[in-house]
Amino acid sequence: MVSRTIPVDTFDLILFGATGDLAARKILPSLYRRFVAGQMPDDARVIGAARSDMDDKAFRKLVAKALSTYVAESKRDKKTIDAFLAQCSYIAVDAMGDGGWAELKASVRDEVVKAFYFSVAPSLFGPLAERLRSNGIACENSRLVVEKPFGTDLATAKKLNADLAASFDETQIYRIDHFLGKETVQNLMAVRFSNVLFEPLWNERYIDHVQITVAEPMGVGGRGGYYDTSGAMRDMVQNHLMQLLCLTAMEPPATFDPDRLRDEKLKVIRALDPIGPKDIVRGQYKATDTAPSYIEDAENPDSKTESFVAMKIGISNWRWKHTPFYLRTGKRMTKRLSEIVVQFKETPHSIFERDEESKANTLTIRLQPDEGMDLSVTIKEPGPGGMRLVNVPLDMTFADALGPNGEEIPDAYERLIMDVIRGNQTLFMRGDEVEAAWAWTDPIIEAWTERGDRPHPYTQGSSGPEEALALMHRDGRRWRDLGEE
Ligand code: BG6
Repeated sequence: MVSRTIPVDTFDLILFGATGDLAARKILPSLYRRFVAGQMPDDARVIGAARSDMDDKAFRKLVAKALSTYVAESKRDKKTIDAFLAQCSYIAVDAMGDGGWAELKASVRDEVVKAFYFSVAPSLFGPLAERLRSNGIACENSRLVVEKPFGTDLATAKKLNADLAASFDETQIYRIDHFLGKETVQNLMAVRFSNVLFEPLWNERYIDHVQITVAEPMGVGGRGGYYDTSGAMRDMVQNHLMQLLCLTAMEPPATFDPDRLRDEKLKVIRALDPIGPKDIVRGQYKATDTAPSYIEDAENPDSKTESFVAMKIGISNWRWKHTPFYLRTGKRMTKRLSEIVVQFKETPHSIFERDEESKANTLTIRLQPDEGMDLSVTIKEPGPGGMRLVNVPLDMTFADALGPNGEEIPDAYERLIMDVIRGNQTLFMRGDEVEAAWAWTDPIIEAWTERGDRPHPYTQGSSGPEEALALMHRDGRRWRDLGEE
């Protein structure tokens, strides 16, 4: 299979928060990789904007450092890096004052796509958007990219939406949820909607349950301040896991058009049942001999914030009425593993003797590591000795499917940034979608706050607290084993 790099129009990308961590880790390396892939036009420009006073030379040094830290050595050579850096420049801009705005206006081009990327604290979204408008910098072909967290509850999300809407049209706003840029997530739609195989079975009649896991081995050390006010529910469930659930559960949109797709996701969120205390388990990782506890990482001895959450969600519509969705995510778990498991029901009647083990089909959609899918099917174990049945995977690992040596799968940010330049909002969240997700999340968090519950302690390197296992056991089901570290 030949990989295609589709050219994009030239652009000015103005990166607010250019000296920050996300810019260094994700945004600048992704732009560079697109440059290497030949997708960034020669006259496209990356204009860093932040409060610090520095000149182009100092900024380029900072970009070079980010690239040497976060881009694979095989993709780096001095000539290519220098050519990329020549397209980068810097302007010091004061988000809350007048400094730098005239310079910014003078340096951006009106006739090309202008992408304003807000990789800054949400409290600056409104002031920045307003200054872009009042200084006449934003125009019709401007696009605005905003990073999460998009609010901390419904009220704050509404306020952010209103602040942005005062200066930009919804069709110009790109709310990033980087999970939507992951290759497998897009493949989930391709598999569901371009194969006749799955759709007839994709409902409560044939699917027993769905489980979505996003497990991470690292703790929250280093970003405990943010995380402690957020917790797994706000940091991961309200956005990333919710998006995975929506893409799994939604109806086929009429076309692959941003609004048709987002309409369908929105319908799913609005059909989610409220969750009661018995259907949700929160956890907090304990200390080990060598690693600090969550409380120590967060530097908050009284913290009741969850570093793990598991839940059972019902969807009240015809397709899913009796098929629960189980979600779990946490820090300091066994290993890095993100997957969606669609567990089909058993055959209504078996003509073979049943073994202990279930032979029901399972479709596993792996986001990371080893992006791909596999479908377990039951076959006869080869050889004499009767009809012994085994489950074997029909495995489609994308790296294998893409080429004999396996091609590198682009980072989610590469895809998403280029979609912004192309003006394609399909993989970005719409304002009403974010609000609906908060409307569902808020009562859950409010109930915890009211009850003042402490999360259940769990061992680092495990699959979370025992209570999370019980959440499925009581329904006669079990989580997929996370495997070894
Ligand atoms: C971020 C969360 O949005 O996603 C982090 O804030 C989390 O807590 C990260 O670790 C996971 O993303 P990825 O792409 O590394 O799976």
